[in-house]
Amino acid sequence: SSKAPLVIAVDGPAASGKGTIAKALARHYDLPHMDTGLLYRGVALSLFRFGGDPGNPFEAVRAIGDLDQVDPDDEELRSETVGEIASRVSAYPAVRQALLERQQAFAAQSGGAVLDGRDIGTVIAPDATAKLFVTAAPEVRAERRYKELIGRELDVHLEDVLLDIRARDARDAGRDAAPLVQAEDADLLDTSEMSIERAVQRAIELVEARLQTS
Ligand code: DC
Repeated sequence: SSKAPLVIAVDGPAASGKGTIAKALARHYDLPHMDTGLLYRGVALSLFRFGGDPGNPFEAVRAIGDLDQVDPDDEELRSETVGEIASRVSAYPAVRQALLERQQAFAAQSGGAVLDGRDIGTVIAPDATAKLFVTAAPEVRAERRYKELIGRELDVHLEDVLLDIRARDARDAGRDAAPLVQAEDADLLDTSEMSIERAVQRAIELVEARLQTS
């Protein structure tokens, strides 16, 4: 086996569980973790707060300059509204290009890293040691997101959450720039019928199997 740093790419659609799995893998292997969706969400939040137009790629690129002012613990970053705007601005090639370097630098740390997003295994870290494509049926993802939103005492309807998820899937997978797609050498992890504990356990098994052959 090689001495190359352990880099783990975790990709998948909205509410698939990829964030939870990526965090658990980072803890298990003692690696730094980057939730790359937060970069796009930060751009979206900045546009949303300061009245920028998400339909304008130039304004979206300019908002990247405000990223350092966004508090990563800001609750609004995780809102559905901001996720929706993030999905829109992430389709602009200029936005993706401007966010590329910091993601690649994070992935290239000498001690290794875990990154989760949509294009980690395909664009950001194509040479990652292990790549997981985490997914679940849209109905299952909608149910999970619905429970999470209800838990935050938000007034939502399951049917609307499912519609939002389907719209976001279509946009993230249908765009020309780095669309959501399973990398050829990624392991598929369908969590539809798994508890989070089981999904994390399975993710570790898949990474271990890749470590054996790397
Ligand atoms: O994973 P998330 O829901 O926080 O991501 C929000 C949006 O950001 C998602 O709909 C698409 C975009 N995104 C992306 O295009 N590429 C990534 N690596 C991560 C997120």
